[in-house]
Amino acid sequence: MSGPTKPLYTVSGKSFTAVAISTAAKAGEWIQTRLGQFSKLEMKSSSRDLVTEVDKGAETMIRNLIRTHFPQHAFLGEEGVGGDEEDLLTPERAEQAEYVWIVDPVDGTTNFVHGLPFFSVSIALAHRGEVIVGVVYDPVRDELFVAEKGKGAYVRGKRARVSEEATLADSLLATGFPADTDRNLPINLLGIRHLATRSRNIRTIGSAALHLAYVSAGRLSGFWELGLNAWDVAAGALLVQEAGGRVTDTAGRPYRLTTRHIAASNGAIHDELVSELRAANATGYEPPSGGQ
Ligand code: IPD
Ligand code: CA
Ligand code: CA
Repeated sequence: MSGPTKPLYTVSGKSFTAVAISTAAKAGEWIQTRLGQFSKLEMKSSSRDLVTEVDKGAETMIRNLIRTHFPQHAFLGEEGVGGDEEDLLTPERAEQAEYVWIVDPVDGTTNFVHGLPFFSVSIALAHRGEVIVGVVYDPVRDELFVAEKGKGAYVRGKRARVSEEATLADSLLATGFPADTDRNLPINLLGIRHLATRSRNIRTIGSAALHLAYVSAGRLSGFWELGLNAWDVAAGALLVQEAGGRVTDTAGRPYRLTTRHIAASNGAIHDELVSELRAANATGYEPPSGGQ
């Protein structure tokens, strides 16, 4: 006689999604208590690319909480802390892993540093390169966005659905200002310049994970940005797809963990968004100007 069916995405009775949610909630709660109270501000690649002890502390906390439940799983965190050197993964290697947790402990560090209350914890779980769980938590608004592959996306416990705008002209878009001022920022500015007059308007809230969560909740029609990493977008990409939207790279190819230049939308405007980025030479896949 067969026993009760095990819920999907469960190992030894522990749901991946439940662990992702409780971990994001604990980390988010702690991060919020440190708003305006961090003591160590460091520059990474430049003064546009910041990290504090709160980013590192939150990543270590998340890593330890996940390891308690799933010690065999791999871990890819933005700050690369809280584990052994040899455990450190790249997005390329993460695609090969059986299970890998992909984590941005504070997405929106610049906002956090300046006391601007828009940042999030982003936690995704991928299985052999495919994102199967995505959680984005905004501790300031106590707003939780959750998606499971094939099971839909939820915001504050209610089913999330992308918006219905059918044209760019009716769309509210979002993007960011990449830290890399040599290549990704100037190219993204070409896209902003081009799309500003072809969309209803453009917002930059300062957290790619929140931008994607807002596309999934129908608050934004679309989002694109160059130079992002798996930890910024893996969870949000699943949210958008499970809410009925579309996620590709800026050239229109399917989203992968290695995608750096991302376009996400309600689906209806996707082809137009990608073709306007191409028309503006703003996909980031064009040869660098002056090159062959
Ligand atoms: C940044 C945010 C921002 C985006 C940057 C990211 P961080 O992540 O997502 O919105 O424009 O490109 O690097 O550094 O705050 O984790
Ligand atoms: Ca980030
Ligand atoms: Ca971060």
